[in-house]
Amino acid sequence: MPSFGMGRKLFDCISSRWMKLRRRPLAYDEAQPAAPYLQGVYAPVSEEVTAADLQISGEIPRDLNGMFVQNGANPRFSPGPGHSWFDGDGMVHGVEISDGKPVFRSRFVKTQGLAEDIAAGEATYVGSLSMPGAGKRHKNVANTDLVFHSGKFLALWWEGGQPHELSLPELETKGTFDYNSTLEGGLTSHAKIDPKTGELFFISWGAKPPFLNVGVAADNGRLTRFTEVPLPGPRVQHDMAISDRFICVFDFPMMMDFKRPNQKSLGFVLDDTMPARIALVDRKDTSAPIKWFNVSPCFMWHLSSAWDEGDEFVLVGARIDGATRYTKSGEIRDDLPLVDGEHRFDSHPYMWRLNVKTGQVSERQLDDAFVEFPRVNDNYICSGARYSYMPRIDTSQQTLQANGIYKYDLDSGRRVDLSFPDHHIGYEQSFAPRSGATEEDDGYLVGYVTDKNSLESEFWITPAKTLEDGPVARIKLPQRVPPKFHGRWLDASLF
Ligand SMILES: [Fe+2]
Repeated sequence: MPSFGMGRKLFDCISSRWMKLRRRPLAYDEAQPAAPYLQGVYAPVSEEVTAADLQISGEIPRDLNGMFVQNGANPRFSPGPGHSWFDGDGMVHGVEISDGKPVFRSRFVKTQGLAEDIAAGEATYVGSLSMPGAGKRHKNVANTDLVFHSGKFLALWWEGGQPHELSLPELETKGTFDYNSTLEGGLTSHAKIDPKTGELFFISWGAKPPFLNVGVAADNGRLTRFTEVPLPGPRVQHDMAISDRFICVFDFPMMMDFKRPNQKSLGFVLDDTMPARIALVDRKDTSAPIKWFNVSPCFMWHLSSAWDEGDEFVLVGARIDGATRYTKSGEIRDDLPLVDGEHRFDSHPYMWRLNVKTGQVSERQLDDAFVEFPRVNDNYICSGARYSYMPRIDTSQQTLQANGIYKYDLDSGRRVDLSFPDHHIGYEQSFAPRSGATEEDDGYLVGYVTDKNSLESEFWITPAKTLEDGPVARIKLPQRVPPKFHGRWLDASLF
């Protein structure tokens, strides 16, 4: 992996070839599974844009100053074989807000793999849906998530690898960050920060032993703990949670199936004949015996939050019964949205209560609604978030699309919702606390919403306390923002 010095060289290399290559049109194979995620609203954008003087409908609150940045897949070149939506080069889109004035920026995350592609003038990696041996793979595209830790703004990739540091507010790639040589394995997306201690908690996983590790990094930019969580075999991992006492990771029976008959691509399969297990690792002593809990078979891409409550560890997330088109028991389910023709996103809000003294488990679905990408006020990520904000998935579509957003009050069970206008889609929205806020929901939901007909995108600012009343400001953007994965609100004090 490149060091910081290599990062500078890498950036120079990319910059020198950028102007020559950036207008080359993309092409893709209509037959490949990811084709729906390469056209229309999802089509990659080629330009890196910086723009002020943006058209604003409504008024930007003066008690909101900082920057929202969201990461996502945006293939720089026509994808190679076996391309998945998740394989596209990372591109971040950001809106900086200062005294009511916005500035928009979009930048590729300039990774080593992207530099190799630019040098070749084409995609040099095969996608994650390719069969083994098809070509160069596992490009760290840094396209999944963003986190601000140890004074650095880091782009993370869901498969792992080293984080890429981005400058603020310019969003230029500075290079990779190996936590001052203490990060030996990968650092996966959805790392969590305890705002009380400044510690970052993360997972590192792979197809070969050890299949899963948990790590802890201090705010001084050095790892303090890195411990294996023994699993019986490789498992697809994505998210994790923390409470004040525990690190929560999973043994979901989601695995790679190389032998499934009649498969057109290398996909995941959920072995619904096996139990799903939740592991709690002691935060302060990660080598202490792990507490394991058997739960009903499922998979979960994204968690909302977790907390300790008496003897119970409470976990909320977007749980999926059958996360793949094919299940191990032979069921084939084509009735709901499929990503890459393989992955289902019919997830519901769900709560588990794990008694750490007795080992008892209680679990329940919180709502019949389909949701994904749940988020909370990150200041409450491990200490009992009452409110969870979950995009509402439109199950009439054959790609993953949200047509609104729910606010769940986990104490009262009350749900309020905001529908996006007809033909508009959005994705995850981040919570931005209002300046001087003292209540959990005193702030704004911020995120992108795109008109599927006009292919124009807006940045929405919606007060979380009155979500159902809609946004107070809609900022028209000079560039379409392809539907993205995960974002982060950064208070102005951070840069
Ligand atoms: Fe994710």
